[in-house]
Amino acid sequence: MHHSIQIILQFLLIILTFTSSFIIEAQPPGITYTYEYPYKNGIPFQRFKERRTSLKNTHSAKSMIVSLSADSRNRQNDVDHPYRQNSNFLYLTGMPYAKSALIIAPGGIEYEGQISHEFLFVQPRSTEKEAWEGALMGLDEARILLIERILPYAELRTFMMKHLSGIDTVFFTGLPTSSIPIPLADKPLSVETIIKNDIQSTFPELYVKTTLPTLNALREVKDADEITLMKKAIDISIEGHVSAMKESHPGITEYELEALMEFAFKKGGAEDIGYSSIMGSGYNTCILHYTSNRKATMNGDLVLADCGAEYQNYTADITRTFPVNGSFTADQKKLYDIVLEAADSAIAEAKVGNTFRAPHNAAKKVLLKRMIEIGLIEKEEQLKWYFMHGTSHYLGLDVHDPGTMGTLKHGSIITVEPGLYIPPGSPCDQRWWNIGIRIEDDILIDSNGPINLSESLPRTTQAIEALMKSKNK
Ligand code: GLY
Ligand code: MN
Ligand code: MN
Repeated sequence: MHHSIQIILQFLLIILTFTSSFIIEAQPPGITYTYEYPYKNGIPFQRFKERRTSLKNTHSAKSMIVSLSADSRNRQNDVDHPYRQNSNFLYLTGMPYAKSALIIAPGGIEYEGQISHEFLFVQPRSTEKEAWEGALMGLDEARILLIERILPYAELRTFMMKHLSGIDTVFFTGLPTSSIPIPLADKPLSVETIIKNDIQSTFPELYVKTTLPTLNALREVKDADEITLMKKAIDISIEGHVSAMKESHPGITEYELEALMEFAFKKGGAEDIGYSSIMGSGYNTCILHYTSNRKATMNGDLVLADCGAEYQNYTADITRTFPVNGSFTADQKKLYDIVLEAADSAIAEAKVGNTFRAPHNAAKKVLLKRMIEIGLIEKEEQLKWYFMHGTSHYLGLDVHDPGTMGTLKHGSIITVEPGLYIPPGSPCDQRWWNIGIRIEDDILIDSNGPINLSESLPRTTQAIEALMKSKNK
């Protein structure tokens, strides 16, 4: 009895020693990890400062702006997934890491005897953590970001609670997760509710807002450096689309085409995809945000590839639809040309001063006319059966970038992406079934007229067929 307890204890001790040494083994002395900022050739730090200053100058002295970093993606048991910063926070700071926050105080806050208007909160460096993650920005390294005061992240809450007195409105530029599912509750608890309750229990008069329209307006218009990065993301994406089209043949799976696409993205220097690649064949071309990409293609299928690379956090958003065997059928071509005509007339309306809806209205007009002509529909109300989404959205750090939705402005980038989707069973001639077509380009709104940044990727049926025949085999 006594003996077996001793064995168990000894065994436990061995396990404990093993696991704890695995987790907290100390570093040999003298190791230093060098920190390197990953986006050195992107947006100059001075630009981030100008953006913060612009927000500071357009908000009242009694307001406070709080911008939070994105959560890290941790699925289970300490496994780290690639981190992607919250775009609003990134846009204002250039800071690419988790557990950080920015406070802009238009009225100024006195801290240690000095009045400042901007405060960055970051995680201090720690040698133990760096053995796992490498060096990230600590308080010293973050000085390159040109933010007036830099404080440890652990002080954020105390700092906010102290300095919210005297403030009438606090703006959050977004929240890390929109909702927290709570088991056994009817409704998930939103982060917004939690934050509002928390702050308002101490400051009942305080107005808490979770959007910042002035920031959306800033992000809508891209500067020259942003446009350079966008062009790079678009050019890399074009390489991916070309490679998928060239390697396509009946029987190739959707995931192989996806792999060819994303291989070219990574090879071109993109750090990520801007959104889950949509690679649908056959009837899957009719599913707007199809992302499982598991099916094998079949001869005669169309493939709808909606894929964009993310380069230095800026993303492209491009769709091409091509025949898996390299030749469009007559019916596929007929619908393709209708979508292309809609796209061209929408792009022509992507002009400075036009309403945000102008390209959409132009696309709808063409689609309606042509669909009635070929007998696909009979009247306007039926248009949305086969074209059920908008034609444009802003594009930038996010694939669906924020903006004012007001008139189109010089320097803004929008997508133009009309489509037609005819799933099997649709109330029309069966010859059209299983045809889904979208043509999506990225358009720079310029005072000299729209510039199609993805124009060099073949977009007519002839150019697509020519490209697919040119495969090196
Ligand atoms: N790729 C998503 C979209 O086109 O909006
Ligand atoms: Mn899009
Ligand atoms: Mn898209």
